[in-house]
Amino acid sequence: MSSADRLIVALDVESSDRARELVDQLSPHVSWFKLGSVLFTREGPEICRIVKSAGARLFLDLKFHDIPNTVYGAVTSAMGLDIDMLTIHTSGGQAMMEAAVRAREECGRSDVMIIGVTVLTHLALEDFRQLFASDRAPEDTVLALTRTAQDAGLDGVVASAKELTLIKRFAGPDFKVVTPGIRLADGSTDDQARVVTPGRAIRDGADYLVVGRPVIAADDPVDACQKILADMTG
Ligand code: C5P
Repeated sequence: MSSADRLIVALDVESSDRARELVDQLSPHVSWFKLGSVLFTREGPEICRIVKSAGARLFLDLKFHDIPNTVYGAVTSAMGLDIDMLTIHTSGGQAMMEAAVRAREECGRSDVMIIGVTVLTHLALEDFRQLFASDRAPEDTVLALTRTAQDAGLDGVVASAKELTLIKRFAGPDFKVVTPGIRLADGSTDDQARVVTPGRAIRDGADYLVVGRPVIAADDPVDACQKILADMTG
């Protein structure tokens, strides 16, 4: 896979006009765009067509988390949007994840990757202990959720750079890892606590890198994108 096929630009912008501008500028350079709940909730499914009509691949990052029957329905609806990847929460449990996989299969879309969110990366150790009422190391919970995701037939998980090598070692090379928190060595870290460079993430085994602000907030998004691609390749 080329670097362009591994880089996912997060369209974390306020309007479909700005999203369209970015897709027009960047689609000759990257293969993937990510739509999250902010833009999707504001603009609706029409926003997906902006990405698909540019010939790019679409990652729908709505992080479904509900009872199995509802997630089955949500995934079935998402398949109608011509997406290529979507997220669900692994903490919804194995039956919920299996319902998502079943919905995909029944829509005949085994090409769509279903990726699980394990433990959200903004949680500090104290939050984690309070939430799970456990003294267990967060990594153990991440690995337990990863195992359940694999058993349920998911294609991979979202993981911070910190967990990347651990998950790859645990789950094997074919289980995909999608990694946010990517920054060039000379770039701002924004609100991301644990960042790594594009090249480091690739060397540590990331299959896909998610990059938002370093590209979409840059004065020249195409130049920013090319620097990230060069770092991935180098
Ligand atoms: O702007 P930045 O590169 O930090 O954006 C990263 C993107 O990845 C955002 O869309 C954010 O919601 C997403 N993400 C993340 N951490 C996770 C899961 C998703 O930063 N654990």
